[in-house]
Amino acid sequence: MDKIRIIGGNPLTGSIPIGGAKNAALPLMAACLLTADTLSLSNLPRLADVSTMARLLADFGVEIASAGDAERVLNLTAGSANGTTAAYDLVRKMRASVLVLGPLLARYGRARVSLPGGCAIGTRPVDLHLRALAELGADIEIDKGYIEARAPNGLKGADIVFPVVTVGGTENLLMAAVLAEGETSLTNAAREPEVVDLAHCLVAMGAEIEGIGSDTLRIKGVAALGGAAYDVVPDRIEAGTYAVAAAVTGGDVELAGARLELMMALAGSLEKAGVSVSETKAGIRVSRNTGPLQGIDVMTEPFPGFPTDMQAQLMVLMAIAAGASMITETIFENRFMHVPELGRMGADINVHGSSAIVRGVAELTGAQVMATDLRASVSLVLAGLAAKGETIVNRVYHLDRGYERLEEKLAACGAVIERLSG
Ligand code: EPZ
Repeated sequence: MDKIRIIGGNPLTGSIPIGGAKNAALPLMAACLLTADTLSLSNLPRLADVSTMARLLADFGVEIASAGDAERVLNLTAGSANGTTAAYDLVRKMRASVLVLGPLLARYGRARVSLPGGCAIGTRPVDLHLRALAELGADIEIDKGYIEARAPNGLKGADIVFPVVTVGGTENLLMAAVLAEGETSLTNAAREPEVVDLAHCLVAMGAEIEGIGSDTLRIKGVAALGGAAYDVVPDRIEAGTYAVAAAVTGGDVELAGARLELMMALAGSLEKAGVSVSETKAGIRVSRNTGPLQGIDVMTEPFPGFPTDMQAQLMVLMAIAAGASMITETIFENRFMHVPELGRMGADINVHGSSAIVRGVAELTGAQVMATDLRASVSLVLAGLAAKGETIVNRVYHLDRGYERLEEKLAACGAVIERLSG
């Protein structure tokens, strides 16, 4: 298994290109199942999760052709379904596989999708997806670990109220409702930029959706959707991760292609901590050339609040900021696995329920570390960049799910970082 070796202490300077968002690319790819025409997606990131989604779609008989800029553009054509089963092996690897449920059900009237199991960051059930699809008239049973969903006479519009904000649930329901008969309303819908991206793509395919970007979506079902060409939104979490990298190393970095308006909560927290964040022609500039970092308090919330996918990374900044900080995780119940690993690097962090109290230390020291999910793993890379000495991050495959050419992008800005194959 590959490892990443870092010698910390170098301030990052230069420009980092930001790719398309993983969490937008996955639902957008699933949306190809809604039409017999070609959906052409550009600005796709080259990530393990994107390959896994492509494999899943190929299992359903989707024709996949890369066009132009090697693999960044995929033409996806779901002419007719060969199968409608998402097998355990792929769903186990990637929970976002469950996003095929809504489109399969809407277009083919049936879907068989392995029920995702537990996850390192929380129980992450899909009960809200299933309950809402049942409200659209789907008949849903769980059999031998599989969700068996049927709607032989098609789905029917309904008024759905989500009791908690769910990104995947909103995406699945959007994709189901666009082909349902009549009108659907989704109340307390997720407003994440990736949900907005999906809604815009569906509109480009011929869907009728109102309220995009708000927490109430109104969808008028249409008989069929057509093809479209769509560019994936830049990855605000990748950009945010490199913003923290610049901050913790005392660097000055331009995040080329990043969009500040998608990252206002993070930018606000960074500025409070003493980091300068500004919009440039090419993207966003993040710098901390002078002065120490200051402790801050942050709570994760659905968009436009502070994203849970940036919680682990921001904790690294808190670990070396002056004074005490508190971070409260409200989205997932078990997303502090990076805490003991950061502790091994000298961080002073105490977890009390859903909050972590972080007392800043003068310096982190390199160590051997590993983590059990994507964002926790990248937080250890950030800690390694800021730490004194050598850090080895194990289980790099987590990073490959969500960060394209991580070590190359960091090395180009002066980081001493390399991948050790093994
Ligand atoms: C998406 O996961 C993202 N994944 C996650 O990114 C992200 O952390 C999360 O949204 C929150 O922003 C993708 O987009 C592929 P949710 P999702 O449904 O859709 C509970 C990363 O690192 N819930 O919004 O699975 C759930 O347990 C990943 O890139 C139910 O109880 O998240 C959680 O506590 C990790 N029942 C909360 O809602 C349901 O049926 C929010 O989950 C659905 C969700």
